[in-house]
Amino acid sequence: MRTPLIAGNWKMYKTIGEATALVRDLLAGLGPLADREAIVCPPFTALAAVAPLVAGSQLGLGAQNLYPEAQGAFTGEVSPVMLADVGCRYVIVGHSERRQYFGESDAFVNRKLRTALAHGLRPIVCVGESKPQRDAGQAEPIVTAQVRAALVEVTPEQMADVVIAYEPIWAIGTGDTATPADAQAMHAAIRATLADLYGAEIAATVRIQYGGSVKPDNIDELMAQPDIDGALVGGASLQAASFLRIINYQ
Ligand code: 13P
Repeated sequence: MRTPLIAGNWKMYKTIGEATALVRDLLAGLGPLADREAIVCPPFTALAAVAPLVAGSQLGLGAQNLYPEAQGAFTGEVSPVMLADVGCRYVIVGHSERRQYFGESDAFVNRKLRTALAHGLRPIVCVGESKPQRDAGQAEPIVTAQVRAALVEVTPEQMADVVIAYEPIWAIGTGDTATPADAQAMHAAIRATLADLYGAEIAATVRIQYGGSVKPDNIDELMAQPDIDGALVGGASLQAASFLRIINYQ
């Protein structure tokens, strides 16, 4: 009942030429995707060049961030109207790198998520604990509190467009993936939180991705977990061969 979503978060990598070359290689290698969805999230500067290549293809398009206003005097920011205009269907919000390096609060992440929804974009909202938080046994309360804070004033109907990405901070870019069992336990806790907020029926329809050192050699066992509904992939999404293998998880 949940169509798994594999998303490539390219972060601050790829010039326009590199981005279009990667997308061409992905499209050339992608077979029919009957039971899963795949998207790429290039940097803002490459969106307009990538959009016509993926239009009408099996590969969807997302952005990595947005500013929560339709337009205005917000120098350097990009609005949801602009993202929809360039062809984005998805947008990542609240990535731990934005929370950590750019001081994004839970309240600001919530505002971004609601603004994305109001403009017809599907937010992929990231949550995750740090290493000290995990070591202190606080991972679950911290992550479920982030989920609740991100979803303030989000209606049950809107949850059809929301994707949650559990990305433990200590697993991002470190090669240190959560074990499938630990990831599954957190995904189940997130789904229980969604059930508490929206009821079990809606909770069962929301996609929860895992992110943090997802690679060709661990994707299969992660995707075998009952509450893991896709992956948010950083480093391994930057080369066609590795991202195609992840999309084609068994
Ligand atoms: P890595 O796959 O490079 O660990 O990055 C994960 C991530 O932050 C995706 O958003």
